Amino acid sequence: MSQLLEVSGVSVTFDGFRAINNLSFSIGAAELRAIIGPNGAGKTTFMDIVTGKTRPDEGSVRWGDMSQSLLKLNESQIARAGVGRKFQRPTVFEDQSVYDNLAMALKKDRTPWGVLFSRPQPADDTRIRELAEEIGLAEQLDRKSGELSHGQKQWLEIGMLLAQEPRLLLVDEPAAGMTLAEREHTTDLLKEAAKTRAVVVVEHDMEFVRRLDCKVTVLHEGSVLAEGSLDHVTKNQDVIDVYLGR
Ligand SMILES: Nc1ncnc2c1ncn2[C@@H]1O[C@H](COP(=O)(O)OP(=O)(O)O)[C@@H](O)[C@H]1O
Ligand SMILES: [Mg+2]
Repeated sequence: MSQLLEVSGVSVTFDGFRAINNLSFSIGAAELRAIIGPNGAGKTTFMDIVTGKTRPDEGSVRWGDMSQSLLKLNESQIARAGVGRKFQRPTVFEDQSVYDNLAMALKKDRTPWGVLFSRPQPADDTRIRELAEEIGLAEQLDRKSGELSHGQKQWLEIGMLLAQEPRLLLVDEPAAGMTLAEREHTTDLLKEAAKTRAVVVVEHDMEFVRRLDCKVTVLHEGSVLAEGSLDHVTKNQDVIDVYLGR
């Protein structure tokens, strides 16, 4: 099977410091992948490169069936090509209901004013309810988003990204600040989302990564140190030395 995203030989230097060093990474069209590694390993920078926020000095980033180069696209073109990214801090509209946040996300390509003042269409209503079900907020649709728990806000934001139907979803440290029950729900949600798209999750919480039950890529000093099942990589002596053993 051909890969959805193929990053190869990518390097990025910030003021003489090589944050990403000849990195290669690929993921299939319906695959869940965890990325782990010590602070400063380049995990967030990797996501910045894929989303077009940071331009590599060398290497290639190829996308989709036509192996299109993402390096030729700007951030909004990459988002439109099907790359969605969730940041650590939720960016939901706190004064709006869960329903309205999802409705706005469905119409994101329209003008902001049109989004605010147009009424949801029946097809949108069905989709909004499906999304709410998928993220576990079906009972919260009428609630103001600002009243949700931290975890619920994170799920809402994932739902808002799913509304855009990305082919690749990038999620940076979703478990931070979540209760155990919220973390469990989040793993379920991400596993479900990865049945129909590629999902890359950066996460420090090893129990969370274990529950994801997927292939793991270990980054260190901007390169892939090890890759495979969690059991495989956690037995790797290099991984123990630079990450787990500390
Ligand atoms: N815009 C930037 N300018 C300068 N240095 C940066 C920039 N972004 C990241 N870095 C550096 O690159 C390295 C990798 O950072 P990052 O990708 O955030 O690591 P991680 O997410 O794995 O903790 C770090 O040493 C960080 O300080
Ligand atoms: Mg980071």
